[in-house]
Amino acid sequence: MQIGIDRLGMYSPHFFVDLKDLAEARGVDPNKFIIGIGQSEQAVAPSSEDVVTMGANAAAEFIDDIDTSKVGLVILGTETGIDASKSGAVIIQRLLGLPEWVRTYEIKQACYGGTAGLMTARDYVAAHPDKTALVIAADIARYGLNSGGEVTQGAGAVAMLISANPAIMTINDDSVFMSRDIMDFWRPVYTDLALAKGKYSTEQYIKFFDDVWARYQQQTGLTLDDFAAVNFHLPYTKMGLKAFWTALPEVSEDKQTALLDAYQESTVYSRRIGNIYTGSLYLGLVSLLENDGHVQAGDRLGMFSYGSGAVGEFFSGELQEGFARFLHADAHREYLDSRQRLSVAEYERVFNNKVPYSADDYSADPQYLSGRYVLTGVENQERQYEERPE
Ligand code: CAA
Repeated sequence: MQIGIDRLGMYSPHFFVDLKDLAEARGVDPNKFIIGIGQSEQAVAPSSEDVVTMGANAAAEFIDDIDTSKVGLVILGTETGIDASKSGAVIIQRLLGLPEWVRTYEIKQACYGGTAGLMTARDYVAAHPDKTALVIAADIARYGLNSGGEVTQGAGAVAMLISANPAIMTINDDSVFMSRDIMDFWRPVYTDLALAKGKYSTEQYIKFFDDVWARYQQQTGLTLDDFAAVNFHLPYTKMGLKAFWTALPEVSEDKQTALLDAYQESTVYSRRIGNIYTGSLYLGLVSLLENDGHVQAGDRLGMFSYGSGAVGEFFSGELQEGFARFLHADAHREYLDSRQRLSVAEYERVFNNKVPYSADDYSADPQYLSGRYVLTGVENQERQYEERPE
């Protein structure tokens, strides 16, 4: 039985900062951000958006088109959850109006949480072929104003419906994964700002890719020639490229060019949204499918997932006949083009206006509400969510 991605949705906040503006404000050559890091714009999440609202907004792209009575599992993969105990998945279940006969929970392992959710969902559908699973990968990447990681922030979510006989892409049973306890990036519970050893994290990402890719080749006998494209976890768009460069010399120059072209298409959305941690690999998949005119049914795609701390996994998928009918390319492009550009001063104000780490009540600024689902505030330490009229 083939199992995989039957529907794909994405969401990112309505606000962004242009990285040329940010470079100027920080006294940096804009080419460092645009070429050196490979980012042009960065989504800015107002305090009315969190992983619950963004995840629900991503799933809203297809939820009305699916049979929700078949959904037996809802997993939220995130490393920026909104509660240390309760999962965001159960709130998303309510917001989306899903039946109560469903298992809901949250998975955390840095940027690997989305893949952990996907693989768990795959196993669930293998055991219950008549059921489907909703996997949501959502995060807000925050390193702090003026920090080394500021240029690699971002916010957004990807939602995937996993089913038997999927409409978009099968997930092959060929995963190679690896775990190693390292401190390259983490976030202590007292803060919403991530800590990262920038250069070390970059080296570790590349090392994990090299190790799982070598083992994948040994175990499957496949080479890069067998892939139409490889999608990478993208903390910034140059990052995947640095890892890819280590493997590309294995194939002819023509094949390298084709793979690099596909790589560029897989980074179109990330370049404009930034790092969305757990969802970033899957944002790359959406970007590839919606922007690359060359990938077609039957193509094998590689997927490299990396979650600091660290877990790496390489697996493949096969595109299905008619997959393009289930994408939202025009709507996504129009949405990204219609976002509101914030000045650096405004971005800093929005960044600092956040739900406090305290028992105080809080109201989100109504001028920054966007998306179908929003967080209006916190009352008596309970987060208040609302569905807005369309
Ligand atoms: N024109 C063109 N390029 C320029 C330039 C200019 N004027 N100025 C500098 N550059 C280039 C540099 O040569 C460099 O290129 P290479 O990496 O190819 O050598 C690039 O711009 C970046 O320059 P620096 O190395 O000096 O950048 P930095 O010290 O500011 O650090 C960073 C960059 C490490 C990514 C930092 O932003 C950071 O710490 N980010 C957060 C951590 C992170 O994203 N790590 C990635 C792996 S961890 C992971 O995958 C999990 C996750 O999602 C976080």
